[in-house]
Amino acid sequence: MDSQRAAAVRAIAERHAGSRGPLLPILHAVVEELGHVAEEDVATIADVLNLSRADVHGVVTFYHDFRRTPPVAHRVELCRAEACQAVGAQAVFDAVTQRYAGDEDVEIGQVFCFGNCALGPSGTIDGRLRGRLTAELVDAELEASR
Ligand code: FES
Repeated sequence: MDSQRAAAVRAIAERHAGSRGPLLPILHAVVEELGHVAEEDVATIADVLNLSRADVHGVVTFYHDFRRTPPVAHRVELCRAEACQAVGAQAVFDAVTQRYAGDEDVEIGQVFCFGNCALGPSGTIDGRLRGRLTAELVDAELEASR
């Protein structure tokens, strides 16, 4: 176990431990400050909060927002909800996931509505909301940022 990381996780957990319902704020802070919730972080957080590892693990794995692996260089999230599906989101998703399969610098995720339905297919590229997406627009933006 990385003792520096364990100390950082413990400090985050202790900072929130006295608050009401501290587990979710702790997990958000770990992701924000350290990039992801590593498997070994679960034991540290459980120890500080006097919870079982299973309790913490269950929460970490239930919510997709709590990354469990280190972040990659670029993240594309594509909307797969109905309004975007009606204007071609499936084809964009299929093309983008196929094109970047095996690319360790690009992670493709799915979201079910960004609230940008009128401009579908919608998605985010490195956190920037985009509308009227095509696979070619995703490629161009990723290439420009590499
Ligand atoms: S359905 Fe895609 S943004 Fe709402």
